[in-house]
Amino acid sequence: SKNIQNICCIGAGYVGGPTCAVIAYKCPDIQVNVVDLSQERINAWNSDNIPIYEPGLSEIVMERRGKNLHFSTKIDECIEKADIIFISVNTPTKTYGVGLGRAPDLTYVESAARTISKVAKTSKIIVEKSTVPVKAAESIINMLKSNQKPDVEFQVLSNPEFLAEGTAISDLLNPDRILIGGEDTDKGQWAIEQLSKVYQHWVDRSIIITTNTWSSELSKLAANAMLAQRISSINSISAICESSGADIQHVSKAIGADSRIGSKFLQASVGFGGSCFQKDINNLIYLCENLNLKEVADYWSQVILINDYQKKRFVNKIIKSLFNTCTNKKIAIFGFAFKKNTGDTRESASIHICKYLLDEGANLNILDPKVDYDQMMFELSNPQLNLPIDVIKNKVQLFSDDVIEACRNSHALVVCTEWDNFKSYDYEKIYEVMQKPAHIFDGRLILDHERLMSYGFHVEAIGKRLNHD
Ligand code: NAI
Repeated sequence: SKNIQNICCIGAGYVGGPTCAVIAYKCPDIQVNVVDLSQERINAWNSDNIPIYEPGLSEIVMERRGKNLHFSTKIDECIEKADIIFISVNTPTKTYGVGLGRAPDLTYVESAARTISKVAKTSKIIVEKSTVPVKAAESIINMLKSNQKPDVEFQVLSNPEFLAEGTAISDLLNPDRILIGGEDTDKGQWAIEQLSKVYQHWVDRSIIITTNTWSSELSKLAANAMLAQRISSINSISAICESSGADIQHVSKAIGADSRIGSKFLQASVGFGGSCFQKDINNLIYLCENLNLKEVADYWSQVILINDYQKKRFVNKIIKSLFNTCTNKKIAIFGFAFKKNTGDTRESASIHICKYLLDEGANLNILDPKVDYDQMMFELSNPQLNLPIDVIKNKVQLFSDDVIEACRNSHALVVCTEWDNFKSYDYEKIYEVMQKPAHIFDGRLILDHERLMSYGFHVEAIGKRLNHD
């Protein structure tokens, strides 16, 4: 059979955009069309100011766009032309009905599948890139059958995406592994080989893992659950450190030196955020409940509970240090994105910290190099606080780089995101413009605490006791 010449990706988001940019970059012989319902998002992808910040992404898009990488809203036309169709639409947690707060909402996946079955006049390989529940491939096959034409065949593969935001391009260029799940039939194996050949333009065959669709779907949920579990595990130890006088950074180093454990994902912090970890653990919990595995569901629930506990613990520490009142105090918040090197704010720990402090009456100066003002306001007002939106607008200001103005007259400075440039600020000068006593709360353990104390700051950090002279 002929080689893959045309790929369509439904969903031009954090996954669809970077993934297709890298495929287009590495496979000049393949035409790649990224389509979306949102005209605004597509316009942004076609502009000088692409809608997602990821180191290295803009360069690749500019190099391939208009050659073999195209962004459009012509969904039907691009599906029709494609040999392979990626589904990279959002799969948020359900906010209504059965499985509320736990089950993933497959509305967007279903609408993509229905469009494919309605439009496709030739056989297609359909790839689940979105993170979906176990057995979603089966549901997708059934959705596809709804309008299927004679002589048109669909093969559904699971090919979960393991990129991390902030390092998406290097993760895509040098993946640890590629996982492809398919049906255990000749046609299923053929489809796996077709997709595998696309990746083999730049990835060695030896790191392509093939399996059945369920194992592939479950592996993605389990991988994210285990990554988040490491964060909650080290954060639970950080609480012990603060109470006992041990130092979490020394403990992390000692634990991580064990080659069976390894040092990655052992940094204590204010808690994990991002659109995936909590959602995917909830998805796993929902699966366990449906399979009557209550003990397993409870085990994974704890990962989320500890994460909520960590955020609350940190805020309580701030409020207590500020003499139990934040009313009309100005607080500088360093970072609103959920991690460094991204503008993505979804489920950011910073949102929770900001909301608690606003509820306590504080005024906030938020400093973040990549976050957009409307996005920030959306996060602070959804779901609604006790405060009306126009009050929030008066109480919150966003700064992208003017750290001195962000800190002027503030009582406290709170590090929520680990942006590298936060480390190299002139904290002696920052101290001068702040109210006294000047407090720093390091929720990411990125600052030099001894030095800050020598300037006169009162410093508190996750997982250690300071100011104990
Ligand atoms: P996103 O929200 O950034 O992008 C999804 C896009 O799909 C939106 O632009 C939306 O307009 C579009 N869309 C929805 N329904 C559509 C339809 N029927 N036709 C055309 N376009 C449609 O979401 P993101 O972050 O890219 O995530 C997508 C999936 O990938 C999710 O399942 C997520 O769990 C998974 N994932 C996300 C990662 C991340 O770092 N963000 C990493 C790995 C997996």
